[in-house]
Amino acid sequence: MRRKIVAANWKMNGSNDLAKALIGEVGKGLATLDNGVEVVIIPPALYVSRVRQLAGSEAGVGVQDIAPWSQGAYTGEISAAMAADVGCQFAIVGHSERRELFGETDAVIADKVSQGLAAELDLILCVGETLAQREAGLAVDVVSAQLKEALKSVSGSGWKHIVIAYEPVWAIGTGKTATAEDAQAVHQAMRRVLADMGAPAQEVSLLYGGSVKPDNAAELFAQPDIDGGLIGGASLKASDFLAICEAV
Ligand code: G3P
Repeated sequence: MRRKIVAANWKMNGSNDLAKALIGEVGKGLATLDNGVEVVIIPPALYVSRVRQLAGSEAGVGVQDIAPWSQGAYTGEISAAMAADVGCQFAIVGHSERRELFGETDAVIADKVSQGLAAELDLILCVGETLAQREAGLAVDVVSAQLKEALKSVSGSGWKHIVIAYEPVWAIGTGKTATAEDAQAVHQAMRRVLADMGAPAQEVSLLYGGSVKPDNAAELFAQPDIDGGLIGGASLKASDFLAICEAV
């Protein structure tokens, strides 16, 4: 049985006051939710310990990125071991905003995957095509190449720590969500690529991200190869985020 996961990527948003209000309301709603969904809150790293304290057993916590190195003179970086040390279960790697704004390559992301596995974190690897690539009919080619490069070092039991988030770049923060059929087609292709790589493909959770909202979550999550979502904007409003968690 694949894990059903809904992860909240707060990006560079948040404060102690927001964490207290948001987690307080989300925690109350999750306490009565029994659909088996695994909820993860991924705030800016400075707030991870506070969110973990507020969330208690209702939700896990994670970091939005980790360094491709284990430790050392890398000012500003956060290691996978540090994330695990403060109680993170998850780390996002390869988010399109890291690729686009910070020039992260598939090779660097592969190093981050290795670091995350060494710290026994569950990794949410983000992949996705640009609008130009989709319009050129290259979505599956792009996503397949990203998977193969980023996951080239994964084998055996490492696969149980891998979660993939398909986030078409043109759908992130735009309100333009991929149709459930288009998203399912890419997820199905990703599962084939994972199988070709020797992964237990039917056991790897594949999340969709990119303008998931309460009014489209159920249709997306009803798709056979969509196992949950990676949520940006909607995760900052407790009622919307809870509605998405209920839709799994
Ligand atoms: O990582 C999730 C994020 O990229 C999606 O953002 O605002 O489109 O839900 P949003």
